[in-house]
Order: sequence, then structure tokens, then C-alpha cells
Amino acid sequence: MPLVTSKEMFEKAYNGGYAIGAFNVNNMEIIQGITEAAKECNAPLILQVSKGARSYANHTYLIKLVEAAIADTGLPICLHLDHGDSFELCKSCIDGGFTSVMIDMSSKPFAENIAITRQVVEYAHDHGVVVEAELGTLAGIEDEVVVSAEDSSYTRPEEVEEFVSKTGCDSLAIAIGTSHGAYKFKPGTKPQLRFDVLEEVSRRLPGFPIVLHGASSVPQDLVAKVNAFGGEMPGAVGVPEDQLRKAASLSVCKINIDSDLRIAMTAAVREYLAGHPADFDPRAYLKPARAAIKQLVAHKITDVLGCAGKA
Ligand code: G3H
Ligand code: 13P
Ligand code: ZN
Repeated sequence: MPLVTSKEMFEKAYNGGYAIGAFNVNNMEIIQGITEAAKECNAPLILQVSKGARSYANHTYLIKLVEAAIADTGLPICLHLDHGDSFELCKSCIDGGFTSVMIDMSSKPFAENIAITRQVVEYAHDHGVVVEAELGTLAGIEDEVVVSAEDSSYTRPEEVEEFVSKTGCDSLAIAIGTSHGAYKFKPGTKPQLRFDVLEEVSRRLPGFPIVLHGASSVPQDLVAKVNAFGGEMPGAVGVPEDQLRKAASLSVCKINIDSDLRIAMTAAVREYLAGHPADFDPRAYLKPARAAIKQLVAHKITDVLGCAGKA
């Protein structure tokens, strides 16, 4: 099975009331942990690569690793550029074999967001590639862009029809209260996503796939493990999983998770090294890290996204 686009995945997810997990990948162990879990759960999968991941691991290495995962699992896998910040970067990923790209002009004025997204859509569709765009601004850190909570803004539902019809994008990321990174909400507060915004967007765009970024739930047992073995993560709070499950049952077809993978991996490496201080074989600590990712992804697929058995 070659790489696929997310088109058919999203149609099935929308109609089936579940979402596809979009997990960020940076190296072989992360790709193996995610794809082994998806294989065991028989789940469709989006593997996404940020600009930072691409410069860390190299485009060719990532493509070849993902191709290896497809050969190994036989799963439908979509390879997606996460937060493309220019036409040139999107073009390079389209030319280099990705099947989906995000053009993220959400921090630009509405007209400029439309113009650049439209340019990417035209090139992408000519090459059989689908495009995710974004309206509204999430707080947090993505690549080198830091958006403060004051500068973030919810998506304005009254803008979505014009945006989608003028750009021709295939899916739309919206801001309903999630944010990037491990520190999304103040400790002690009760996070509440703006389902009213999601529902109004969906009412205006019937059948259209919505994307949720910043959807890590920051499991407290994993944060505690990081800190039990020498880490110093301050109070970190993520998106409650029951709210993600609800979003997946509505029009949200793609849920982005990166920080949870990082925390799971770091907790496993710290635990291993703390218990084996004389060990210096990277395979020894990357093996439990890979297993931790697999366990986390299997949980997300089964209990949060609802896409187990849907490959
Ligand atoms: O939204 C951002 C993703 O978590 C990717 O992070 O740019 O550090 O690779 P990164
Ligand atoms: P998290 O930081 O919540 O994992 O979000 C990841 C993301 O949105 C990648 O685009
Ligand atoms: Zn994101």
C-alpha cells in the first residue's frame, strides 16, 4: 500500500463519529512506536512532520522511514507537513512525496491567509495532495513561533464559509481553546473547550473535516514519572480526554498529538537511566522509550480517537 491522502480517511471518520490521530514524528523509534500501535489496533494513521522535524532528521530519512513503516504494517498512512509556514516549504514537501500539507497562515490577516492558502491549494491539488488550513490562533509554541495567550483568538465562525470556498482547502484547523505544548491551562483550573464555536463552524460547513491542534492531554502519571527521575516539569495541564472524545464524535476528523509523545518518551528514558546509571547503549534506553510511545498511542486510538479497527 502506498502513502494515501487523508480524503477517504476523513470521509469515513466524519460519518463514523471518530477521528484520525495525527502524531508528530522525528526519528525511527517514534515512527516505530506509533505504527506498531496502529497496526495492533488496525487504525488509519496520519504521521506529521514539522519544519523543525524536517531539519532535524532530514526529509529523505523521514520519507524512507515512513515507507518502511508502510511496508511493515500494510496500514493506510498519510504523510503530512505540520504547520507549513510558506508556499515554498509546502511545495518542497509536495514535490518530495508528502500526501498532505498544512499551510498555516493563521497569524496573518484574513485576506493574506486566503491568498497564500489558495496558492498552496492550487499547486497541491495539481499534484494529488490535500491541504489543511487554519483560521483562529492557538496559544503556545510551534516551531520557532511563540503565541502568547493574549494574542491567541478563537476561530470566528462567520468567516469559515468564505475562507473555505475561496481557498478550496480540504480541511480546516480551528481554535476552540486548545494550545500547543505541555502547559496549556493553569494547574487547578478546569479546562473547557468551546464546543459552541465548533458546533457553529460545523453548522456552517456541513460534512467538512475539522482539525484540532494542541490536543495533548498531558497525562499526570507521565509528568510525575519525569519528575520522579530527575525532571523538573512545572505544573502541566492538557486537554481532558473526554472532551477530545466528544470532539471526535462531532466534526473533528484529525486530532494532533505531539507533546504527550515527548513526555512519554522522556519519562521512559529518565526511568531507565536512573535505574541503570552505568548503561551507555542507546538501544537500551530507546527500547523502553519506543514501548512507551506504543502504549500511549494504543490508548489514544482506542479510548480517545475511536479509530481502532477502522483501517
Ligand atoms: O505544533 C507543533 C508540533 O508540536 C511540532 O513541534 O516544531 O518542535 O517539531 P516542533
Ligand atoms: P500538542 O503540543 O498538544 O501535542 O499539539 C501538537 C500539535 O498541534 C502539532 O501540530
Ligand atoms: Zn499544531
